[in-house]
Amino acid sequence: MTPLALYIHWPFCKSKCPYCDFNSHVREHVDMAAWHKTMLAELDYTASLIGEHKLVSIFFGGGTPSLMSPDTVAALIERAKVLWPSTAPIEITLEANPTSVEAGKFRAFRDAGINRVSLGIQSLKPESLTFLGREHSASEALAAIELAATIFPRYSFDLIYALPHQSVKEWESELSDALKLAGDHLSLYQLTIEENTAFHHAYHHKGAFSLPDEELGASLYEATQAIMNDAELRAYEISNHARAGYESRHNLAYWRGEVYAGVGPGAHGRLLIDGAWHATRTLKSPERWLENVQLHGHGLDENIILKTSERGQEYLMMALRLSEGVDLRRFELASLINHERMALYDSMGLLTRNAHHLTATDQGRLVLNRLVSELLV
Ligand SMILES: C[S@@+](CC[C@H](N)C(=O)[O-])C[C@H]1O[C@@H](n2cnc3c(N)ncnc32)[C@H](O)[C@@H]1O
Ligand code: SF4
Repeated sequence: MTPLALYIHWPFCKSKCPYCDFNSHVREHVDMAAWHKTMLAELDYTASLIGEHKLVSIFFGGGTPSLMSPDTVAALIERAKVLWPSTAPIEITLEANPTSVEAGKFRAFRDAGINRVSLGIQSLKPESLTFLGREHSASEALAAIELAATIFPRYSFDLIYALPHQSVKEWESELSDALKLAGDHLSLYQLTIEENTAFHHAYHHKGAFSLPDEELGASLYEATQAIMNDAELRAYEISNHARAGYESRHNLAYWRGEVYAGVGPGAHGRLLIDGAWHATRTLKSPERWLENVQLHGHGLDENIILKTSERGQEYLMMALRLSEGVDLRRFELASLINHERMALYDSMGLLTRNAHHLTATDQGRLVLNRLVSELLV
């Protein structure tokens, strides 16, 4: 039976971080009972759309899903397991913000069925947390990691680097401190300036801060890889590091071009229905999504059938992010790729290939977007 990764999106946050372009909204009041009922309804609809699958993972993302009621989390997990039975234990992750209020709910989330938590720590330095507009302090961050380690079988946390004025030395020292607290997985993201964020305005229009140039960015990335390799938490994806066997099963489904379904506002899906790949997205506005599910049973805004070549292109883009690389036999990829360019980039040390696999080297990953678009010409 086809494996299924299930994504559930909670679109609310206590405040909007200045760098964030995720589908996250601040609302004074959220009708928790209505959201409970409506998310379950869209889950049922998804099952009627895709039929039988074997559930392999659930991921509660956001927004800030640690603001959800643990009862709602428990009900969604229970219903998903009924809709798509699975023989083996499945990975069930929740993204959590590390304020003390949310850490106070960790036990209830574990009892609801969460067995992996991903904490949005972002930095261990007070001045960086202030710059990033976070609601938590450095001591709350430490306390949340320590608590998560005692409560959940698996935990990970996110850090953002390449901040204004950050030197390689400073980042190396922060990362070494973080490693003392790390479990089997860490996500390390370079700060990017996204459109329609407060940082976009501050950086591009007001010149409020400067960022590391390309050269410093590359040095920060290389220093990160070296430290993480030494710690045996290798990059299995550009920004995601894990001890072997502790990769996020759920996120691998996106990068490996597998089936995933999205429930909740603005959630994406790649569904396999009667042999055809569908790209789905639900309504982004929480209010419109809620109303549509209440009226029609689902909040789907887009449901497009993808050609094999389109699916192949996105698979190439996603899977080249992985250290395991791309399987050229999938989605007729071998016929989509420019073989002369592939040989050229191989000789330049940007790619490595064998009979069926193509992998980007560390150098190649630094210019991945360009590499992918050139390979598809
Ligand atoms: C869905 S978001 C946030 C989850 C959770 N609400 C939180 O803030 O901790 C997942 C992660 O993406 C990263 N992220 C979001 N926007 C980013 C940006 N502009 N640059 C770098 N990393 C970013 C952050 O590390 C964040 O924890
Ligand atoms: S980074 Fe997390 S907490 Fe901040 S606005 Fe985005 S989703 Fe919400």
